[in-house]
Amino acid sequence: MPKYEITINGRSQRVDSDAERPLLEVLREDLGLTGAKYGCGEGQCRACTVLLEGKPITSCLTPVRLAAGRKVVTIEGLSENGHLHEVQQAFVEEAAMQCGYCTPGMILRTTALLQAHPNPTDAQILEGLNGNLCRCCGYNRIEAAVRRAAKGTSHARA
Ligand code: FES
Ligand code: FES
Repeated sequence: MPKYEITINGRSQRVDSDAERPLLEVLREDLGLTGAKYGCGEGQCRACTVLLEGKPITSCLTPVRLAAGRKVVTIEGLSENGHLHEVQQAFVEEAAMQCGYCTPGMILRTTALLQAHPNPTDAQILEGLNGNLCRCCGYNRIEAAVRRAAKGTSHARA
């Protein structure tokens, strides 16, 4: 079975896996990183979003071989030294979740969005999160959390 070296949340990890297995499966089943969620398995919901070299990807459709030698960040890797990342804190402060199933994907995609557009317009927020589905329909609060994070008014890492 092929072996891959992947840097996951800042740590180099050795993975033994079939090349075509979805990265999501490897993260959840082999490495115990269950923050990325299985929603549809077809690229339609983005609950499985993780960052690959800083870019959001649907890990359910990404074969593990494409992550070899690269950097992956999951929701578990976003906080630092016991402090929530400012995007996580903004989601908490806006109560931007109900069941929370979509939340890791929303937060990681927001993180990437704010790196590309530190002061996003409403249109950029909608475009950035377009395709991340929330079955609880908490979109207004999610958008408010993105705006709060962009303004830097959350109380993260005080
Ligand atoms: S589980 Fe990956 S897009 Fe739905
Ligand atoms: S909070 Fe339930 S799916 Fe979004």
